[in-house]
Amino acid sequence: MVTAALPYANGGIHLGHLAGAYLPPDIYVRYRRLKGDDVLFICGSDEHGVPITLGARKEGITPLQFVEKYHTLMKKSFEEFGISFDHYSRTSNQIHHETAQQFFLDLYNKGVFTEQTSMQYYDEKEKIFLADRYIMGSCPNCGNEKAYGDQCERCGTSLSPDELKNPVSVLSGNAPVKKETKHWYLPLDKYEPWLREWILENHKDDWKPNVYGQCKSWIDGGLHPRAMTRDLDWGVKVPLPDSEHKVLYVWFDAPIGYISATKEYFQVKGERLKVKSDDEWKKYWMNSDSRLLHFIGKDNIVFHCIIFPTILHAHGEFILPDNVPANEFLNLEGDKLSTSRNWAVWLHEYLIDFPGLQDTLRYVLTSSAPETKDNDFTWKDFQARNNSELAAIYGNLVNRSLVLTHKFFEGVVPPMKDALLDASERELIYQISLTKKSVEESIEQFRFREALSEAMNLVRAGNKYLTEKEPWKLINTDKEKTGHILNLCLQLIGNISLLMKPFLPDSSKKIFKMISIDENNLPWNEIGKTDLVKPGTQLGAAEILFRKIEDTEVQKQIDKLHLNKKEVVIESKSGNIPTTNHEPPTTITFDDFSKLELRVGTVVKAEKVAKADKLLQLSVDMGNEVRTIVSGIAEHYSPEEMIGKQVSVVANLAPRKIKGIESKGMILMAEDADGKLRIVSPNENVKAGSKIS
Ligand code: 2FM
Ligand code: ZN
Repeated sequence: MVTAALPYANGGIHLGHLAGAYLPPDIYVRYRRLKGDDVLFICGSDEHGVPITLGARKEGITPLQFVEKYHTLMKKSFEEFGISFDHYSRTSNQIHHETAQQFFLDLYNKGVFTEQTSMQYYDEKEKIFLADRYIMGSCPNCGNEKAYGDQCERCGTSLSPDELKNPVSVLSGNAPVKKETKHWYLPLDKYEPWLREWILENHKDDWKPNVYGQCKSWIDGGLHPRAMTRDLDWGVKVPLPDSEHKVLYVWFDAPIGYISATKEYFQVKGERLKVKSDDEWKKYWMNSDSRLLHFIGKDNIVFHCIIFPTILHAHGEFILPDNVPANEFLNLEGDKLSTSRNWAVWLHEYLIDFPGLQDTLRYVLTSSAPETKDNDFTWKDFQARNNSELAAIYGNLVNRSLVLTHKFFEGVVPPMKDALLDASERELIYQISLTKKSVEESIEQFRFREALSEAMNLVRAGNKYLTEKEPWKLINTDKEKTGHILNLCLQLIGNISLLMKPFLPDSSKKIFKMISIDENNLPWNEIGKTDLVKPGTQLGAAEILFRKIEDTEVQKQIDKLHLNKKEVVIESKSGNIPTTNHEPPTTITFDDFSKLELRVGTVVKAEKVAKADKLLQLSVDMGNEVRTIVSGIAEHYSPEEMIGKQVSVVANLAPRKIKGIESKGMILMAEDADGKLRIVSPNENVKAGSKIS
């Protein structure tokens, strides 16, 4: 049973999500399926909790409309990218509500929860209790002034609202008052001895050090009862009397989403096949011979290693996670990925900008996966890995082997002769089996980066072999040996595409087609054989496996990132915290300031930029010249509105190409906390070109 963290339905899927929690399990399950194992891969949208209600509020729509929009977007991105979930569900489904409520009742009836009435923060203006991310204040641990009511994202400490210093409501910005309320708590402290044994003793050697380390510091830091209910209207209703405005804590209901999605999968499948399937899900969740794996990002470790297992253990009928291979974070161009600052590469945009290049992204994200430490994605690295590794090494081996066989043997696979096998060839064949073994070991220990690199080494060895044997010369003197060499190359390609199938499924598919192999009848254990491609087989046409990525394409992506970046919003994983707090500015010297040439210009012409919703192309009269400036204000001003307006221009900014248009300068804007932009104009009209000082 393999699960991938249920992403909050509050935005798109970005590369950080993909590298952290979705691509690794996809590789893992593809490998397991090839091995013939019974594996189920489950995910879905997490549609409850404060990230949803705050996001909906910010967009001025209902939570239901909000999750509908983002669930649809995320599901589509995953599908188009090819993440091979057996089922992608959502937590607003009835089956989930029922399953989570039943789970809560089971625990309640067993007397697991403690009931506590306490004074909690309340926003009098908004009439709402302020739990989790509805409240912010200073972190008692590191002093970060923007810590949330559930966690400080700077130092990672888990917090409760009471621990925050100078708390404020994120809704009204007001200081909260205290009001009495009743909740049901999971007494984590009581489970500490069990958790110590289960994690700190039993999983000392098989859990990743980053995961084990976080668990240890949580347990050593002392566990406290944690409320499993909230005073909210959006979520799974607490199934107890007098709980009208109470819902289950999102971190109680979301992981149960894995179970309800499994149930739903078998329900749908059962209906399709017209078979009874009510209890099928139990095989994966309740049988001791089933193995449960949770793939997540590091910010989810405590929930999947401590809280959810405690819930499962307290219930008593469920298996526990066998491993939780959490990844660290992926940075982007040297900076932390951030939804709120829009410093992210969105998967749905990638799929439009690079159609058909799913495998390239899979390759790049796996090669630089943040498995043991945070890692950086850069567009230049993306281009280099595609052009110099995928195209120049992998694509080259496949292409040369195919083209030469077509050229010298009319595309009919020539035989390999045992008698002709020399030492280097025996070595190469042996290397296939060795690589299979090391790829298996690495994948099974969740070291996907290492596994892929092992597979690539075999590709390199194949390329070296082909280059050294020079069949394009040998054909003039020894056709039989040339055929023998090309046969070996084709066998190697067949083996490599099977080996690469979990990592780069689309390319493997293309290769199997080129070498006329039915991949559906080719299980993992065929790797190592030298008769995958039978002599006499007619090969398909040689296709380009990986096209070259041009400088202009990656520059466009870099420009887009900078252009769409928002500067002043509070850092938040969920990305939807409206705020009036701004980052404290870095001090600059007067000399720094005097480098800026700021001038007033008058807009004389304005038009929309094709295929760019946010951009206007402006012609700005600067007194002595009319300049073209591309500005990201199209969502805030129509072209007509801009004509005649006076704007403040950074006049000595180096020109940049934006959407193919050379932009000379930048228009200054005022941005409020909601992201609304207004131009900064002189109080009265001045001569175009006037200096601002
Ligand atoms: O961090 C997140 O995006 C959460 N929505 C993950 C939930 S995982 C699971 F528990 F459902
Ligand atoms: Zn902190």
